[in-house]
Amino acid sequence: MSRILLTGGAGYIGSHTYLRLVEAGHQVVILDNFMNARDDVPERLERISGHPVTVYRGDVRDRVLLDRVFAEQAIDGVVHFAALKAVGESVQKPLDYIHTNVGGLLTLMAAMEAADVRRIVFSSSATVYGDTDIQPIPEDHPRTYASPYAYTKITGETALEQVAAADSRWAVGILRYFNPVGAHRSALIGEDPGDIPNNLMPYIAKVATGELPKISVFGDDYDTSDGTGVRDYIHVEDLAQGHVLSLNALIETGQSHAVNLGTGTGSTVLEVIRAYSAACGRDLPYDIVDRRPGDVAVLTARPDKARDLIGFEARRTLDDMCRSSWAWVSGQIANS
Ligand code: NAD
Ligand code: UFG
Repeated sequence: MSRILLTGGAGYIGSHTYLRLVEAGHQVVILDNFMNARDDVPERLERISGHPVTVYRGDVRDRVLLDRVFAEQAIDGVVHFAALKAVGESVQKPLDYIHTNVGGLLTLMAAMEAADVRRIVFSSSATVYGDTDIQPIPEDHPRTYASPYAYTKITGETALEQVAAADSRWAVGILRYFNPVGAHRSALIGEDPGDIPNNLMPYIAKVATGELPKISVFGDDYDTSDGTGVRDYIHVEDLAQGHVLSLNALIETGQSHAVNLGTGTGSTVLEVIRAYSAACGRDLPYDIVDRRPGDVAVLTARPDKARDLIGFEARRTLDDMCRSSWAWVSGQIANS
């Protein structure tokens, strides 16, 4: 058993990872400023896990707070989720993104070094591969950025790699997520986007609940099986398990790794709409509209390195992802 600090642990992926870590026998401490999390997440985590939740409310850039957390809790390792994550917004507000995502990581690493804690799992993204025709993408594909958000993830990865290369006491797990979707099997936690989501699955969910009238499919003239964009959707509970395996590997071997977390299989936009329609029990309406600027046709993970290095394999299907999303959003509507 280890004691793990989760920055951004009240957010979408952080809250699911919290539950998997507790199930795996770890003690977990959350630090979150709740700028993108609901206040009742800790209470829900307590209901699901049956254990009290330790939460520090505050900013990951606050060095004084970090020093206090490390002084009060005997932390063995960190999973760093806290970040801003909207690609489009990062183009409008690059400084906010650089300050939070890069500044937050550097402040955290300095506090870890001072506290003698040198095991960290970092939330990265397939966005670090840029626009590429090589699919599925292997981890040694060159990194290149097309947005300030991607820049912050490449910079974060590079900072961690440099520190680990210079000092063998550091072990870093870089996890490049593909498209995380779905919700916890309890239907008590899930993704909670704003009024008009940018991403496909939360948008479909709002059409399914009747909050939005129709899905816009961004282009049907890509070179894919039905002309719509292909992505590697991964269930958030599988993704959460990837963090447990990454942390265990760091703690057991002391070796760093950088791996894709995806299924290796892509689904088109129309396949996702069909799977969601089956989950919610009605045909969801959609229109084909123009391509979204900046979108690539296909983005899928080569998954073998994660399997070989940390023993990760995604198990849940697209139908599982849609069913769990629908259980979460329909439950929210029923309780509102
Ligand atoms: P999220 O917004 O739900 O979670 C992030 C959490 O961090 C939130 O609870 C937020 O309140 C908190 N936070 C933000 N800024 C903070 C700060 N300065 N100090 C303390 N807490 C702060 O997002 P998520 O989808 O759970 O993403 C988690 C991580 O995974 C992020 O680093 C994101 O870039 C990365 N990622 C997400 C996706 C995705 O599609 N969701 C894909 C690839 C990578
Ligand atoms: N799409 C639609 N209609 C919508 C929304 C999306 O047709 O309303 C399509 C897109 O064109 C794309 C697919 O659905 O083909 C998936 O789009 P998302 O916006 O859900 O996801 P992206 O792959 O574009 O982006 C995600 C994350 C980014 C990350 C990127 C690469 O949101 O943060 O994966 O990892 F950078």
